[in-house]
Amino acid sequence: MIEDTPLKHLAVIMDGNGRWAKERGLKRTKGHEKGADAIRDITTYCADHPTIHSVTFYAFSTENWKRPKLEVEFLMKLLDTYLKKELPIYQKHNVRFQAIGDMNGFSKSLQKRIKETEELTKGNTSLTQVLALNYGGRAEITHSVNRLIQEGKKSVTEEDISKHLQTTYQDIDLLIRTSGEERISNFLLWQISYAEFYFTPTLWPDFEVTELDTIIQNYTQRTRRFGGVK
Ligand code: FPP
Repeated sequence: MIEDTPLKHLAVIMDGNGRWAKERGLKRTKGHEKGADAIRDITTYCADHPTIHSVTFYAFSTENWKRPKLEVEFLMKLLDTYLKKELPIYQKHNVRFQAIGDMNGFSKSLQKRIKETEELTKGNTSLTQVLALNYGGRAEITHSVNRLIQEGKKSVTEEDISKHLQTTYQDIDLLIRTSGEERISNFLLWQISYAEFYFTPTLWPDFEVTELDTIIQNYTQRTRRFGGVK
């Protein structure tokens, strides 16, 4: 049992939107829309959970630009609509919103929406919901090291690198990936060093709080040794 390492930081690789839509004879974009609804439900659950203080979702990777132009445009628009619709829900559930990744490639209006949402929710304290947008784990680590070089460092410590990451919050306790794929896909490489992993065959649009509850029960039965003996 791991009462001494409660679940504080959850990370989710949301996968399977396209397959969900295909199974129903729908366009891939319908899967993304349903996927956005699932983010809302899981976030609300996390806000009410006694130990979870952060949940980080992989919403757009640096590799996702390779998708058809129309799908990328749809995802950008969906993100904008999602944040607009989400603001009252963040406020109601006391959720702080943060984005990580390189937002420079996004339209000015989307960048503005992201900044405004961060600003308007920065006083909320139940949960921090992080969306990883145009995010890559290797890029984040490289960026951190470059900042240290610019500061004139000749050699660096793990603590130096950690402090210069975009994600200065705590390590990940539990990483969930949906849709049956068992890969990390360049997500939070530094922060998952001692994370527990859970891979579920459920496609992301079908992922519900009841399943999250079961996964958390499973997590609490595990023994985390962090390289030591228990
Ligand atoms: C993978 O499904 C999912 C993504 C591209 C990232 C998650 C995106 C969403 C949940 C859409 C909405 C997000 C926000 C923040 C509004 P896939 O398309 O790779 O599925 P497939 O592997 O079945 O094709």
